[in-house]
Amino acid sequence: MENNAKVLLKWARDLLKSNGVEDVTFESRVLLAHSMGISVEVTFLIDDPITQEIANDYQSMVYRRAKGEPTAYIIGYKEFFGEIFKVDPRVLIPRPETELLVEKTAKYLNDQSIEKQEVMKIVDVGTGSGCIAISLAKLFPSIKLMATDISAESLELAKSNAQNHSVIDQLEFYENDLLTNLEGPFDIVVSNPPYIDSNSIKAVQREIRNHEPIIALDGGLSGTETLSRLIIQAKERLSDDGLLVIEIGFGQKEDVLFLCKKIFSSNSEVKLEIDLAGIPRVLLVKNNE
Ligand SMILES: C[S@@+](CC[C@H](N)C(=O)[O-])C[C@H]1O[C@@H](n2cnc3c(N)ncnc32)[C@H](O)[C@@H]1O
Repeated sequence: MENNAKVLLKWARDLLKSNGVEDVTFESRVLLAHSMGISVEVTFLIDDPITQEIANDYQSMVYRRAKGEPTAYIIGYKEFFGEIFKVDPRVLIPRPETELLVEKTAKYLNDQSIEKQEVMKIVDVGTGSGCIAISLAKLFPSIKLMATDISAESLELAKSNAQNHSVIDQLEFYENDLLTNLEGPFDIVVSNPPYIDSNSIKAVQREIRNHEPIIALDGGLSGTETLSRLIIQAKERLSDDGLLVIEIGFGQKEDVLFLCKKIFSSNSEVKLEIDLAGIPRVLLVKNNE
């Protein structure tokens, strides 16, 4: 095969398409950009022949992608909230819809004075790559956060991301089952917990079911088991005016609203925020004891 960008990209698009990959134009360029150490935009401008070494590297990445491995694991990073996070199969790949969770938490923090921010007790439950806690720490240099996960190996990567983003001094990491061993009261509990029901995992895209950690996906038989356990634990540990911010899955609105109405006082404010696809995605509960 001739080693120029046009020929290689066409070969990649054809291979990816015949293997059921969706956005083949973009994905083939992301992988080429990565193998050449350039930005995706610059791949439109390359005319010169590509070295055999780069072509080999590119082709091996395209074969991995064709077999279903997610691009983010192949290139080793994912952009989230305008920042780059290292990812590998130890952690869930951060999703764009989770940016709404960060946005709503940031809006709340923004309404607090710096003095209040400095003393707030904030926890990110199920931190994975650390994308939520690290994004908040970068936005608010005066806050401190606890970041927890049941997976020790995901905490290793979250720590490394925190170091790369120079926020390690703002974060404390805990290997823990939800909030079980943690003492409140918390001013903010933020979390994107696993929320796919166990039986549906085999039906999700191969990129997810064959590559992302099951512990990051499986929300029990109902899908809302971990979510519900977390809401109940958070209620016990939130400060009297604390905030709970949780990402939920498609079709889980009724269950979580029912639970929140049952366990939080009637003065508490319970709200759902809609994502860009029009799906109720973020549950916000402002405790009001
Ligand atoms: C959906 S992923 C979210 C990861 C990351 N926060 C994000 O938004 O990309 C859920 C995370 O919760 C962790 N997790 C699952 N069950 C848990 C539990 N019982 N206690 C603490 N963390 C848990 C998983 O290891 C995973 O990192």
